Amino acid sequence: MVDHATSPRYADLPRVQALAAPDMAAVDALIRARLASDVVLINQIAEHIVSAGGKRLRPMLVVLAAQAAAAGGDAGADRHQLAAIIEFIHTSTLLHDDVVDESDLRRGRSTANAIWGNAASVLVGDFLYSRSFQLMVELDRMEVMQVLADTTNRIAEGEVLQLLHVRNPDVDEAAYLRVIERKTAVLFAAGTRLGALAAGADAAAQQALYDYGMNLGYAFQIADDVLDYTAQAGDLGKNLGDDLAEGKATLPLIHAIAHADPATRQRLREAVQHGDAQAMPDVLAAIHASGGLDYARRRASGYASAAESALDGLPESEALAALRGLARYAVERSH
Ligand code: IPE
Ligand code: IPE
Ligand code: MG
Ligand code: MG
Repeated sequence: MVDHATSPRYADLPRVQALAAPDMAAVDALIRARLASDVVLINQIAEHIVSAGGKRLRPMLVVLAAQAAAAGGDAGADRHQLAAIIEFIHTSTLLHDDVVDESDLRRGRSTANAIWGNAASVLVGDFLYSRSFQLMVELDRMEVMQVLADTTNRIAEGEVLQLLHVRNPDVDEAAYLRVIERKTAVLFAAGTRLGALAAGADAAAQQALYDYGMNLGYAFQIADDVLDYTAQAGDLGKNLGDDLAEGKATLPLIHAIAHADPATRQRLREAVQHGDAQAMPDVLAAIHASGGLDYARRRASGYASAAESALDGLPESEALAALRGLARYAVERSH
């Protein structure tokens, strides 16, 4: 039994990054090489969002999962391309998401939609999506294509499901969890499963790493939704309060609506119905009063613990410890 209380903490992030660094250098080179197009606008927009960096958490999970599955052996030659594919899919969803959410700040920069408009952002998002399919087909592994075809389809379902929930104050925790599983967690789970596949892991190890990724994805999105209310603007590189402004009820607010007194509940419901950013001070006060932020943090932490536990059957290694550290990082991060 692993003592999760002594597993690596957020403070160990530099160590985790150092462990992944050689692999991530290869992944980064691949991403850069495969971004190119002879259509100038594609290069401009793709370069704009990719060179802003981002945390590169998902590709890091792919290579660390491969290392953990290999436990000191060969982590598999396909892991870099798989990591690049996952980051391409992620980046394309960000281009689309910022159009849907009408966001104007991403990775500390103006969003592509703010600079080049919605049409260009959607189309270049499609370019990155289809480029990821080209990279996948090159690997010529039916299992990989199956995982990724299912995953991208589920992500699209999640985004549409979320659209249906906009400005709906009756969205409850169960409905919220169904959305975040599809829009976020399935991509994490696909990434860690593909890492296991790259390393030639058996079905049990694949399942363990898949379960780890799925739980981590839930934890990561809940933490993102807490940060939308609590982060320091400069840290986040995104606008705060976007979710309320869009009429998107996330876990802290869902909890507040369920636990507030009738008058406050009515005020919160109206804020969601109108996507009323002006109501933010009241909404924040109600979320605090109901303990909505602590509740959401506890739920995120529970998913992070479940992610760590999913790894218990795998052989101990530095990479496995790094994955545990990332589970904690996902919920303790400030951006
Ligand atoms: C943003 O993901 C979208 C969510 C699922 C919350 P990240 O926070 O990983 O974005 P980057 O890649 O670091 O910019
Ligand atoms: C994540 O949801 C959406 C994706 C999976 C792309 P958000 O809308 O909360 O993501 P951010 O906060 O804009 O990054
Ligand atoms: Mg968004
Ligand atoms: Mg968000």
